[in-house]
Amino acid sequence: MDVNSDKDISKLIKQVNALLWGVGGILAVVVVMVLLIFVGDDMVREDAEAGELNRALIDSAAPVNHPPLDESNDLWTAVDLTQAPASAKAQLEYGKDLIVNTAKYLGPKGSVAHLTNGMNCQNCHLNAGTQPYGNNYGSVASTYPKYRGRSGAIEDIYKRVADCFERSLNGTAPKVGSKEMEAIVAYINYVGSNVKKGEKAKGSGIYDVALLDRAADPAKGKVLYAAKCVSCHQTDGSGMLNADKVAYQYPPLWGDHSYNHGAGLYRLSRFAGYIKANMPLGASYKAPQLSDEEAWDIAAYVNSMPRPSKDLSKDWPKIEEKNFDHPFGPFADAFSEEQHKYGPFKPIKAAQKQAKKG
Ligand code: HEC
Ligand code: HEC
Repeated sequence: MDVNSDKDISKLIKQVNALLWGVGGILAVVVVMVLLIFVGDDMVREDAEAGELNRALIDSAAPVNHPPLDESNDLWTAVDLTQAPASAKAQLEYGKDLIVNTAKYLGPKGSVAHLTNGMNCQNCHLNAGTQPYGNNYGSVASTYPKYRGRSGAIEDIYKRVADCFERSLNGTAPKVGSKEMEAIVAYINYVGSNVKKGEKAKGSGIYDVALLDRAADPAKGKVLYAAKCVSCHQTDGSGMLNADKVAYQYPPLWGDHSYNHGAGLYRLSRFAGYIKANMPLGASYKAPQLSDEEAWDIAAYVNSMPRPSKDLSKDWPKIEEKNFDHPFGPFADAFSEEQHKYGPFKPIKAAQKQAKKG
């Protein structure tokens, strides 16, 4: 009898246990369902919103041709090297080669010296500095020496070339008088020798993209970058070396081997203008592939990523001469570093204009 009642009790305990597990299970299911209905719905909605933004931006990844930036047919063209006097030809050709294949001579594996980050001048001065709106050298011979606010001094072409070595190529310039420096300057002087002293060549330098009414947006730029730039410049912005690993097939846009934060492209207006007329590869001033907003937003994203720094404490001895998009204070106006970096720029330009008048 005792034995039997013991069995009964243990049976009862088992049944109660099963019942509790069952109720617990049902409760758990209910809780999960409630969570899904209230929280999950929000998650799904946010996903859809992000998805819509991504889709809208990625849809624009297919090459879209925007109106030409300049339809005139009298843009500057470089003086052809074949016309050079025989006595000057070898030096000019070496100068051009140094612009096109800078890394081969002066990069980390350069045959002459190791002075630079491995980029080529031509990466940013397209077609050896002769491409309209491709940051060409058309107005260099005609406008230098000239005063520049960044140094607060009259700069000659040597100084300007050295600047790009130290900033865009994050390195050291060859010495004035060296075969390399002399060849580069001779070449730049020669291609622009058809422009009258003091005049600006048409289509020279970088295109000025219209200013937006809002700040440029790195978050939008990130999505655009993934759609339009990543295939060549890579997700981490480090680009891609060519097969012999001496020079870049696709140059870096940020990271250790890119231009430093004292370089021209670190200014949003220069970056936006460069890519508006030239990127993605295949675009040109005749057939731009980025809207103005896209150019600004991508510029904001790329220049929000890490890159080498440079001591800029000697730059801009007169702070009131700083470019509107120079992103480091102190400033002569009351706008923040953030606004000087990303915009909106119109109020800054208006204040600068006012200050000049007053
Ligand atoms: C990472 C991009 C980049 C690289 C690489 C680069 N530059 Fe530049 N360079 C610029 C930018 C940006 C400017 C300024 C353009 C502007 O302000 O409109 C500039 C300006 C210049 C100018 C003055 C142009 C003018 O009209 O005032 C010269 C000369 C020059 N670079 C030479 C060189 C040489 C030589 C090399 C290679 C040793 C080189 N650059 C490499 C981006 C670059
Ligand atoms: C199909 C490949 C390709 C795509 C896509 C592409 N680029 Fe480039 N990019 C290049 C090459 C190649 C160069 C160097 C051009 C030269 O040396 O003649 C370059 C040069 C540059 C430079 C100047 C050099 C440097 O590294 O700082 C910038 C800035 C740049 N690209 C930005 C962009 C941006 C932004 C996009 C997307 C909107 C983009 N590129 C899409 C191939 C590409």
